[in-house]
Amino acid sequence: MEIELQNQEETGRLAKIIGEVAVSCDVLILAGGLGVGKTTLTKGIAVGLGIEKMIKSPTYTIIREYFDGRIPLYHMDLYRVKNEIDELGLDDYFEADGLSVIEWGKFLGECLPKNYVEITLQKSSEETQRVAKFCSVGSKGSDFYQRIQEKCLDC
Ligand SMILES: Nc1ncnc2c1ncn2[C@@H]1O[C@H](COP(=O)(O)OP(=O)(O)OP(=O)(O)O)[C@@H](O)[C@H]1O
Ligand SMILES: [Mg+2]
Repeated sequence: MEIELQNQEETGRLAKIIGEVAVSCDVLILAGGLGVGKTTLTKGIAVGLGIEKMIKSPTYTIIREYFDGRIPLYHMDLYRVKNEIDELGLDDYFEADGLSVIEWGKFLGECLPKNYVEITLQKSSEETQRVAKFCSVGSKGSDFYQRIQEKCLDC
């Protein structure tokens, strides 16, 4: 699936859907260059989960945990820890009862989970335009992807 997002509001709408359909142990990897919209998308996912606290970029803290939504949200940004990923014990998050959202997931290397959805965001011709490309890995990843796709088609 490939979705064109004309502006930040459309990114927010897609993100909210993802937050609404996510279940425990779902993993979402966000790929795409600096400033493309990964944190913006995560903020919308938090809205979809019913989290009221403002999401900040976890760049300096690596992982931020939010427990006030329908299920926990674990928001990770691996940009600054690319060489120390093994020591973070990320598997515990992936298997915990929440949704893990990982910015710069390409740095996971051997720590990549067995099941996940990956969204690659790309800038497009207009300043606020983005393209979101989806892929999934593993049967639970595929299930998560289908829940997102079905709800997107409904809207
Ligand atoms: N359609 C859009 N979707 C998402 N963000 C958009 C869009 N149009 C413009 N923007 C702007 O692009 C910027 C995206 O910043 P954001 O911090 O979300 O990127 P990021 O991918 O997390 O960056 P980093 O790699 O530094 O973590 C924001 O300033 C946002 O307002
Ligand atoms: Mg970010």
